[in-house]
Amino acid sequence: MREYGTYSWRNPWFRWSILSVCGTTVAAVMVGFIWLPSVQGDFSAQGLWASICRAAGVPQEWGERPDNAQRAGSTTSVVLDQAMTRPGASEAAGRGATLALQQCTMCHGVRGVSQTSVPNLAGQYAEVILKQLTDYRTGARASAIMQAMAKNLSARDVSDLAAYYALLARLTPSSEAAAAGPVPPLVNSADAMRNIASCASCHGGVDHKLGAPWLDGMPKEYLALQLTAFATGERRNDSYAQMRNMARQLSAAEIDSLAGFYARR
Ligand code: HEC
Ligand code: HEC
Repeated sequence: MREYGTYSWRNPWFRWSILSVCGTTVAAVMVGFIWLPSVQGDFSAQGLWASICRAAGVPQEWGERPDNAQRAGSTTSVVLDQAMTRPGASEAAGRGATLALQQCTMCHGVRGVSQTSVPNLAGQYAEVILKQLTDYRTGARASAIMQAMAKNLSARDVSDLAAYYALLARLTPSSEAAAAGPVPPLVNSADAMRNIASCASCHGGVDHKLGAPWLDGMPKEYLALQLTAFATGERRNDSYAQMRNMARQLSAAEIDSLAGFYARR
């Protein structure tokens, strides 16, 4: 038997140890960077490259291509800020009222309360209106009607409209209607097994989280449609996918009862 040098390629031990190290590395890369990220929920939303970056722990801005916020399918580009919640100057609200009368009341109602399945805007938090209109403008939130409406609004129009609608009186709940049905458990208690926080901890009742819309009195069809759209990922403009992650865990019956509950209030 011939003797080879320890580090010679013709030494089978040396050759196979190198090949097995390479093989293991390739397999680990495939699993960690391709396979695992690809089975995560939002894989297709941001593409393979974003998934690889996320798997490697790279901060999002590095992996993101500059046009990402503009691409349909990406999440929001709006960074919420407490300053957005301050009621605008009366001049801003006055200008917003004029714009609303010309462009919005036919669908959202004269006083911001709609009679159809269009969402109410009266008393909606200013930062919510700002964020949602901006998301329609950039295409981060898809809606043929609202994207066409928002495209024609300037940044100032958007903030004036937000100031105006935030000042309008909310629908006053009728106490009989509110008492007419059961309170779904998720409204007030979290479900730790499914990683769902109570709705009231963000949407008012217990606490209000910046950017979480006022839901009480919204049309039931609208609420159910939005929850379903979050669940399927069709709507994906919620920062950090917080609504998508929860909505995905809800059954159709839960969506129906939650939408019914908020619509009754
Ligand atoms: C032709 C009817 C129509 C007109 C006109 C219209 N909207 Fe809408 N609006 C809708 C519909 C329908 C939706 C729900 C779209 C969806 O499912 O995302 C909506 C959604 C919104 C939302 C999101 C509400 C929420 O709770 O997330 C805001 C904000 C909004 N509209 C503001 C406006 C403003 C401001 C104007 C006027 C400049 C306007 N809309 C004009 C039909 C209309
Ligand atoms: C961690 C905070 C948080 C919790 C808990 C939460 N939400 Fe949300 N929700 C949000 C935020 C923030 C948005 C706005 C997302 C965006 O920016 O478009 C939202 C949006 C929504 C919308 C869309 C409303 C509109 O007008 O567009 C509905 C409907 C909704 N949530 C229902 C629920 C229900 C029902 C629950 C309880 C099962 C719940 N949410 C729990 C934070 C939360």
